[in-house]
Amino acid sequence: MATAIRRTRSTEAFFGRRHGKSLRPAPLAALEAGLPRYRLDLTCPPPEPLSTLFPAEVDNVRLEIGFGAGEHLRHEAGRFPRTGFLGVEPFVNGLAKLMLDLKREPLSNLRVYDDDATRLLDWLPETSLAGIDLFYPDPWPKKKHWKRRFVSAVNLARFARVLKPGALFRFASDIDGYINWTLLHIRANPDFEWLAGHPIDWREPFDGWPGTRYERKALREGRKPTYLSFRRR
Ligand SMILES: C[S@@+](CC[C@H](N)C(=O)[O-])C[C@H]1O[C@@H](n2cnc3c(N)ncnc32)[C@H](O)[C@@H]1O
Repeated sequence: MATAIRRTRSTEAFFGRRHGKSLRPAPLAALEAGLPRYRLDLTCPPPEPLSTLFPAEVDNVRLEIGFGAGEHLRHEAGRFPRTGFLGVEPFVNGLAKLMLDLKREPLSNLRVYDDDATRLLDWLPETSLAGIDLFYPDPWPKKKHWKRRFVSAVNLARFARVLKPGALFRFASDIDGYINWTLLHIRANPDFEWLAGHPIDWREPFDGWPGTRYERKALREGRKPTYLSFRRR
C-alpha cells in the first residue's frame, strides 16, 4: 500500500513507497525481533559522544541514506568494525531484508533509522560524521518532480553541518540528469569540493564496492554508473 504524500515534517524529503509486497513470516519476524535492537530512537537526544550509540567500540561514525536492502551497508560495517554505521531506509521491505541478514550475522557497529533521513540529519550533532553515502537516490526524472531529489541546497547544508572537515560525501547514480544536477549543486556550495582529476575517478566504483541491488538492475538495463566523491572543506 503506497503511503499518501504529505508535506509534513516527517516527509520533507521522502516521497517513495513505505511498503511493497506483504512480508513473508521470516522477514516479518526478523523485523520485529531486530528493530528493538537496531533502530534509533530520535525522541532521546543523541548521546555524547555519538560513538556510544553502538555496542561495539568505534572510533567514528558514517551514514548511508536510502540503503535499499542493505547490501552495501552490511558489507561496509563488516569491512570496518571500528566504524559505527547508521543506515536510513523508510521502505519496510528493504529494512526487513536487512534485519533477516542481521539475524543470521549480527553486527554490533550498525544502527538503523526507518523514516526520512532529513530527520536523522537534524538530530545528529554538528561535525559528528566521518562520511555520508547516497547511492542511487530516487532520480525523479520529470522536471516537475526535481524538487523531490534528495540532493538540494538545503540537504547539502545539512550534510555540511554534520560532516567533519575532510569527511567524504559519496554519491552514485546511473541517471545523467541527476549526476549533472548534483555537480551543479556542489559547484554552488563552498563547503564541498569534488575530488576528481580523471574520468577514471568517476567511472571506477568506490574502494571495496560490493554493488547494490539497484545498480545491478541499472547495469542489466544498459545504464552506466557514475561515482562521485566530494570532500567537506
Ligand atoms: C532507488 S533506491 C536505491 C536503494 C539502494 N541505495 C540501492 O542502490 O540498491 C532509493 C532508496 O532511497 C530511499 N529514500 C528515498 N527518500 C529517502 C529519504 N528521504 N530518506 C531516506 N531514504 C530515502 C527509498 O526508500 C529507496 O529505497
